[in-house]
Order: sequence, then structure tokens, then C-alpha cells
Amino acid sequence: MKTLVLRDNSEDIAKAADILKKGGLVAFPTETVYGLGADALNPSAVAAVYAAKGRPSDNPMIVHIADSEALSDLTADMTEDMKKLIGAFWPGPMTMIVRRKPAVPDVTTGGLDTVGVRLPSNETARQLIRTAGCPVAAPSANLSGRPSPTEPGHVIADLDGRIDAVIVSGRCDVGIESTVVDVTGENPEILRPGIITAEDMEQVLGKAVKLDPSLLTNPKAGLRPKAPGMKYKHYAPKAEMEIFEGTPKAVREAIEEERRRLESEGRKVAVMIFEEGGEKSAAHDLFAFLRRADEEGADDILVSALPEKGVGFSVMNRMLKSAGYNVRRI
Ligand code: TXA
Ligand code: MG
Repeated sequence: MKTLVLRDNSEDIAKAADILKKGGLVAFPTETVYGLGADALNPSAVAAVYAAKGRPSDNPMIVHIADSEALSDLTADMTEDMKKLIGAFWPGPMTMIVRRKPAVPDVTTGGLDTVGVRLPSNETARQLIRTAGCPVAAPSANLSGRPSPTEPGHVIADLDGRIDAVIVSGRCDVGIESTVVDVTGENPEILRPGIITAEDMEQVLGKAVKLDPSLLTNPKAGLRPKAPGMKYKHYAPKAEMEIFEGTPKAVREAIEEERRRLESEGRKVAVMIFEEGGEKSAAHDLFAFLRRADEEGADDILVSALPEKGVGFSVMNRMLKSAGYNVRRI
């Protein structure tokens, strides 16, 4: 299949919308990462997304809408908590897990009786969804297991020849995927942390927001994550990756020493050190850094840890998976 490269203008977005309507696959920008879209209500189109990504079929898709009214086509739920979260965080990088209506096909939800819904703030994404006239199922537009794509070149590197089209736009603002929050229970529960944090939601709701306990442990402890996608090996670069944790000075020195040791053995080393207070820019840069390290043929990646609170917790969630939980405490 030849992948059509489209530009970020109305004419090309209309072409992309046409492809979606006909059951095709289109990669498009969102504020978090690039998504690989298909008509969420067309089972064969959604099945093609799993095939293009090499994604396990029990891993459900997030369904993207352009206006909050479209939520009622997908779910009958509308609690006070949902209203408050929508008011505060939509359009934006928050996915709500709600009970699905029968119109949402099994293949879209991986057979679950819930569905994840998100209203992105990226204007290109919204124009595409609105023009297509259907809700758009979209996982991140990478091959399964690779770091999520934050630049159009990442999408093309992974999916060229496997999808119908890609809309080429700029770099994604946020850089890590949306916060996934399950709102089907008495207290909301975060299944995947993102740039919108539990603390942000607690402020808006005036009540406790839980964290899926599996987020607080090493997967070797055996807790099963509630978001099926969180159990897979993910974001993994080809290089060996190690995270260094400790005071900024000690970490810097330890990374420098380890770099020298590895280089003296003839290995190629990529280093990323985050500044204090740099959690958002860490989120923005992390996946692009991992991909660049691979492209440059790095054998080893050495990175500094972030304090695991607020956005730092969310970025560390991705980094720990990338590194296979390989952490050195200084
Ligand atoms: O920022 C994002 O969310 C991006 C952009 C494209 O919108 N999308 C994205 O999709 O990251 P994906 O498929 O790569 O990740 C979706 C995550 C997976 O961990 C999946 O298991 C979880 O959300 N998920 C989706 N529907 C769910 C449901 N009904 N119940 C529990 N987890 C769900
Ligand atoms: Mg993904």
C-alpha cells in the first residue's frame, strides 16, 4: 500500500476525512502524540488498525470526538464528576473510561463493556473528526511496543506502506499520551498518568482520585494493570537503558563516570539529564530522544530520574517501562 502524505490544510484534511469515512486508516496530530485513526463504529476499519500496528487485539482503542455532545452517542453515563472533568479538561489530554453503548463495536473496546473517550484540543484533529462525521478510534501511531510518535517523521518511520495516509503537522505539544481516568466508580481512578495529574482532578472534583495500584509497583510484583495496554512492554528503545536516581550532583557524576566506562569499551552512549522543574519539557522530549538514540545507533542510554510527583510521576511511568525498570540508586 502506498501511504499518502497529506498537509495540514483544509483541503487535505477533507481528503483524510474521506479516507476515514470509507474505512481507511489515517495518522493525524493531536496535542499529546500522533494517533492512527479509523472510524470507531466500523469493525473492519478498527481491525485494520490492530493489524497495521501489530497490536494485541485485547488492547482497547481510545475513541476521539470533536464536540462533547458526541459523548452521548457512545455512553449513557453523565455523572456530576464527568461534567466537572469535562468542564475543566476538555478539549485536552484526558481520556475518560465510561460504560459503552451497544453501538460501540467489540473490536473497538477489546471486548470490554467500557470505552475510553477523548476530545483532543488539537485543531487539525478536531477538524478531521468533525469532517469525517464519525467518532475516530485512535491509538498512538507507532508500531506496537515502540515509543509513541511525537513528530511526523516517527509515524512515517514506523507505518509507511502500512496505512492509507498521514497528515504531516508539527511536533506534539505535550509529548506523552493522555491521562486515562476511569469514571465508572464512586471515586475516579487513574489508569495511565499524564500531564493532567490526580492532584489537578482532585482540585476540580473536591474528592479523592485513586491511582491504579499497579502504577506504584514494579510489574514483577505481579499486580495486573486495569488498562490492558499498560501491561505490555512499551516505549522500548533498542539500546540498553538505565535510570539514575539520587541528588542532581551525584547523578550527574555517576552518569559521567558510567559514560566514560562504556565508551572506553567502544560502546556508543546517549545521555539525557533533566533539570529540576523540567518535568513538562521532559514529557515533551522523552520519546523523540529515545527514537533519536536508536537512529544514531546508541548501545546505551543513561538518563536522570525525575521526582515521582505531579507530571514527574507520569514521565517516570514511561521511562521505567522504556528502561525495563533498570534503576540505579546513587
Ligand atoms: O494521548 C492519547 O491518548 C493518544 C492520542 C492518539 O490520543 N492515544 C493513545 O492510545 O495513547 P493508545 O491506544 O496508545 O493507548 C490507550 C490506552 C491503552 O493503555 C489502553 O489499554 C487504555 O488506554 N484503554 C483504552 N480503552 C480502555 C478501556 N475501556 N478500559 C481500560 N483501559 C482502556
Ligand atoms: Mg500507544
